[in-house]
Amino acid sequence: QKLQMSLDQIEKGGYDHFMLKEIHEQPKAITDTYRGRMLPIENRIKMSSIEDNLDKFLNANRIIIIACGTSWHAGLVGEYLFEDMARIPVEVEYASEFRYRNPIITNKDVVIAISQSGETADTLAAIKLAKSKGAFVYGVCNVVGSSIARETHSGAYTHAGPEIGVASTKAFTTQITVLTLIALKLGKANGSLAPHTFKNYIQKMQLIPRQVEELLNIDNHVKEIAAVYKDAKNCLYLGRGFNFPVALEGALKLKEISYIHAEGYPAAEMKHGPIALIDENMPIFVIATNKGHYEKVVSNIQEIKSRAGKIIAVVTEGDVQVKEIADHVIEIPDTEEALTPLLTTIPLQLLSYHIAVMLGKNVDQPRNLAKSVTVE
Ligand code: G6P
Repeated sequence: QKLQMSLDQIEKGGYDHFMLKEIHEQPKAITDTYRGRMLPIENRIKMSSIEDNLDKFLNANRIIIIACGTSWHAGLVGEYLFEDMARIPVEVEYASEFRYRNPIITNKDVVIAISQSGETADTLAAIKLAKSKGAFVYGVCNVVGSSIARETHSGAYTHAGPEIGVASTKAFTTQITVLTLIALKLGKANGSLAPHTFKNYIQKMQLIPRQVEELLNIDNHVKEIAAVYKDAKNCLYLGRGFNFPVALEGALKLKEISYIHAEGYPAAEMKHGPIALIDENMPIFVIATNKGHYEKVVSNIQEIKSRAGKIIAVVTEGDVQVKEIADHVIEIPDTEEALTPLLTTIPLQLLSYHIAVMLGKNVDQPRNLAKSVTVE
């Protein structure tokens, strides 16, 4: 049989789009990112860039995370991780706002700049500003040798491999992976994390790639849901705690590639505005995993139901309560609350992908967007 595969198809590894290929690469990308850094047998995290600068991190007044777009969402997850695991105050800033604001920065601040491309103009300018004020600047980049990787004092690469699709997927989950490793390491170093808690996190972290794999296997179920809601004009994404940033990212993925208007909101803020938009035509994606604020999210879901909104809930496997109320549920495997963003993100990526494909949009190169924004 004649081998008939174009260069384009070969590059996409048999997938229809780079985005789908990159979504499916996440188990490997996450593993590659923690390999050699997370050492379960020794029960420790080895990151020379943190070890060499440990005093700076541990004595920092606060950590300021700067980024744009999806990387900014990863930064928000980082805020929850650092505060929860290492008890260090964190602020997360849009690089574009930070650089023009006359921000208060001193040499007691640690700045973490997150960027897939390592070339984003606003992030680069924000780094230069922070450096000029004496801050220690640490980079989390995917592209080796990129401008941001070179401009920062130190840093850790995500090992996602090249990301071609404009809508960021594997870069996001690997950024969260790096931030989790740093938070765990700092939490252990300053005593905020009890030894058994640290150990438990490492064990749970090791299961994540397999669990992501499991989620990729329910793609057909996600596709069915996509078919139901593809013609929606507006969508709402809700989440609390660690999954609030995931709601933002879910909405961003949908608008980027399908051009459907979508907003992410902290679930409890719904009553301060978005609730006015809810009617039978409004799909609402709610992240309602069994940890943290589950009961609170359930009551948010009831409020949506009583206004006839359509509910698509991302729940933990075995869930009963939400299943009874929601129109559709997507189950994720059980893990620690702090690690759930690595799982809840996956079905939302797939959902956006399928909706965009069904609408005939250019998934890998959406209109008006660029992979790397080197101008402000
Ligand atoms: C662009 C891309 C996004 C990305 C953002 C930040 O808008 O389309 O996917 O999240 O830039 O890029 P960076 O390379 O700094 O992570």
